[in-house]
Amino acid sequence: MSAPARAPRGVEGATRARIPAGTLRTDRWWLPPLLTTLGLATFVVYASIRSWVRTAYWVDEYHYLTPFYSPCLSDSCVPGASHFGTPIGELPMWIPLGFLVLPFLLGFRLTCYYYRKAYYRSIWLAPAACAVAEPHTRYTGETRLPLILQNAHRYFFYAALIVSLINTYDAIIAFHGKSGGFGFGLGNIVLLVNVILLWAYTLSCHSCRHIIGGRLKHFSAHPVRYRLWTLVSKLNTRHMLLAWTTLGTLIITDFYIMLVASGTISDLRFFD
Ligand code: FES
Repeated sequence: MSAPARAPRGVEGATRARIPAGTLRTDRWWLPPLLTTLGLATFVVYASIRSWVRTAYWVDEYHYLTPFYSPCLSDSCVPGASHFGTPIGELPMWIPLGFLVLPFLLGFRLTCYYYRKAYYRSIWLAPAACAVAEPHTRYTGETRLPLILQNAHRYFFYAALIVSLINTYDAIIAFHGKSGGFGFGLGNIVLLVNVILLWAYTLSCHSCRHIIGGRLKHFSAHPVRYRLWTLVSKLNTRHMLLAWTTLGTLIITDFYIMLVASGTISDLRFFD
């Protein structure tokens, strides 16, 4: 019995050239999608493990709180880590303590225009690279569920603004000395660099650019918005770089705080 006929893939349509090979490219076109997949997988695995372990996320001496646990709003948080109170009771172990913020952060990154390009190519293979046949038989773009939800990016951007404000607050109150007053150590630099880059990534968002400068007929009638749009546009040209850099700084920040909180290393103090 012969196998049922397979539906033609996009590249096998009637209007496309008849090329039996998946691609005629001989360069290493598979390398960028492979690296992208490895980079994203590393972050997802690291962030998932750290979000669930519930250890070494707060340094009481210096008030360092890792961004993966901020805001910590539950009675399950260690004393001192809840900068905004504990309106939520005890949480079972299977719910991460930063559960309120994680879905928004994830939604913001997953619907980001740059990350979409990255994972549509590297994970969804639609297509993996130029002139490489994709495995899918149909193309519906972002017009149906679940991909139509990508249009919610603007709302995730608003949530990301609030998260950035919370991270900024965390970074400010981390200027805390051993004996109570002002203190300053390497952890502060790590937290500060992370939060500045998070702001740069958030403000370089394409939705932000549209919110600030979109739907205007004449820039000349809106000089302030024009000036802001110009600044955001400059940042926007670095959006991909900032997307990757902030994944790195989030891991570095969390890792550094984990080492200090667990007593593996001491924070390098400049002023106490
Ligand atoms: Fe990347 Fe908005 S487009 S965060």
